[in-house]
Amino acid sequence: MTGGDARLSTNTAPAVLEFPAAQNPTSLDPDLIEHLIELAPSILSADFAHLAEQVERATAGGASIVHVDIMDGHFVPNLTIGPPVVKSLRRATQLPLDCHLMIENPDQFIADFAEAGADWISVHQEACRHLNRTLHLVKSHECLAGVVINPATPVETLSEVLDMVDYVLVMSVNPGFGGQKFIPGTLHKMRRLAEIRAERGYRFRIEVDGGIGMDTVAEVVRAGAEILVAGNAVFGKGDAQANAQALLEAARSASLQRV
Ligand code: DX5
Ligand code: ZN
Repeated sequence: MTGGDARLSTNTAPAVLEFPAAQNPTSLDPDLIEHLIELAPSILSADFAHLAEQVERATAGGASIVHVDIMDGHFVPNLTIGPPVVKSLRRATQLPLDCHLMIENPDQFIADFAEAGADWISVHQEACRHLNRTLHLVKSHECLAGVVINPATPVETLSEVLDMVDYVLVMSVNPGFGGQKFIPGTLHKMRRLAEIRAERGYRFRIEVDGGIGMDTVAEVVRAGAEILVAGNAVFGKGDAQANAQALLEAARSASLQRV
């Protein structure tokens, strides 16, 4: 990783916000809500021949994190990129690089991604035989550590690590491909995570990934998601700047309606 503030977004929000659990979110200052909700465009749907430019457009539209999908053809039935692309991206943007590892045996590659410039690294619960150890490994490289659950994996499987993670990523599609349809049955997991965090005073943030677009963004935000990954909706068609801006606006207005 690049060190210092590179892990954080360029806005003024700290990477791990102390969510005022006891407070009704509808009564929060709108400025605070703006900082609680962040957009993390997934470059999976971007034009890889013009990656820097595409990320720049999304950033101009308000994106504050870059989501990088790493697939190995084993854990998921698709193959994407490795550390060299992360290294190039690191030079192309100031935003934190959120590396979502959809790979078997992530321990083997965590150091490589951290050295390439990853700021956030998330690993799948389903891929880790020794999840506690793997999360410590991520932290030992001074990256924020996230844990990811597939649609078929219950929140309860995370009960022993929620006190040590910086973020939890709820997959709202089965991982492997961009442009899939959102699975509404995953919404209760975002709600449950928000409840657990409030009950136990944990500090993790809630991220959602898969099928997020203008038609689904409001419901995930109302369910408690704060970091919104979107690939197709940002880079699929039209202008990435306008797409990012519209998504963020919809998300922030939905956050004001959270109950
Ligand atoms: C899916 C990836 C996602 C994907 C999301 O396995 O983890 O990050 O890029 O793409 P959309 O937003 O198109 O569903
Ligand atoms: Zn992802």
